[in-house]
Amino acid sequence: MEQKKKTTIPEFFKMKQEGKKFTMVTAYDYALATQVDKTDIEMILVGDSAAMVMLGYQSTVPIDMDTLVTLATAVVKGAPNTFIVGDMPFLSYEISKEKAIENAGRFMKEAEVDCIKLEGGVRVADTVTAIVKAGIPVMGHIGLTPQSSSQLGGFRVQGKNLIAAEKLLEDALALEEAGAFCIVLEAIPNPVAQAITERLKIPTIGIGAGPDCDAQVLVIHDLLGLFERFVPKFVKQYAQIGKDIVSALSQFDTEVKTGKFPDEEHSYHIKKEVEQEIIDHLKKIK
Ligand code: KIV
Repeated sequence: MEQKKKTTIPEFFKMKQEGKKFTMVTAYDYALATQVDKTDIEMILVGDSAAMVMLGYQSTVPIDMDTLVTLATAVVKGAPNTFIVGDMPFLSYEISKEKAIENAGRFMKEAEVDCIKLEGGVRVADTVTAIVKAGIPVMGHIGLTPQSSSQLGGFRVQGKNLIAAEKLLEDALALEEAGAFCIVLEAIPNPVAQAITERLKIPTIGIGAGPDCDAQVLVIHDLLGLFERFVPKFVKQYAQIGKDIVSALSQFDTEVKTGKFPDEEHSYHIKKEVEQEIIDHLKKIK
């Protein structure tokens, strides 16, 4: 197989122009990042969804910069041939533009990601401009923005009427104008996502936004069947890794308790002639 090469931002633009789809998946650790790097998937998002699927919180709000920078550092090491996105956690970019640049800069300098992502449209456009001016590529995220799910009334579909759909288009255009190089569209009816995608020059990445986006993203734990608390409507499970893990662990447990493991194959040996000598010697030691 040909060695995978990291896709660049101009190449993502070209893919949109040529109608070629690309794929993003989340990852939060070295081991899974190495597996993603073996595929043709172009982008990894070190998402604040780590708060829920890695740390067990009920929402994405509690996770902080230090934790996400640590996770991103591990992912970058595991996937050197994949474009890596660092997700700005709640309140890491809202307080001031200076703070936003400082935190975005931490992702770039400490974790060495390729860009950052933040949530919001018109309300964060000035912040996006400031981060882009500092030389940091920005991915936007509109529609269902989990960090503000309380304000949105929960994890629910956005843009379902004329006014809400118009507001989404305004958000998308504001992000493009501010210099974002692509935008995640989350939980948006297909025709609205399609209209936004056709209107923008920059690529859209859909999650629960239908097939007409330029790219698609899923949370890796969702698509592998590793997160069981709830499965959103838009998630397709491509594997049942959770079930495989339980089965392997139960087999290990049984083999330990029945003395089947460890067997000869999984044990260290010494030459027969010194074995008895060592045993006798150890017995003599008080
Ligand atoms: O944190 C995350 O996983 C995300 C995706 C849902 C796009 O923001």
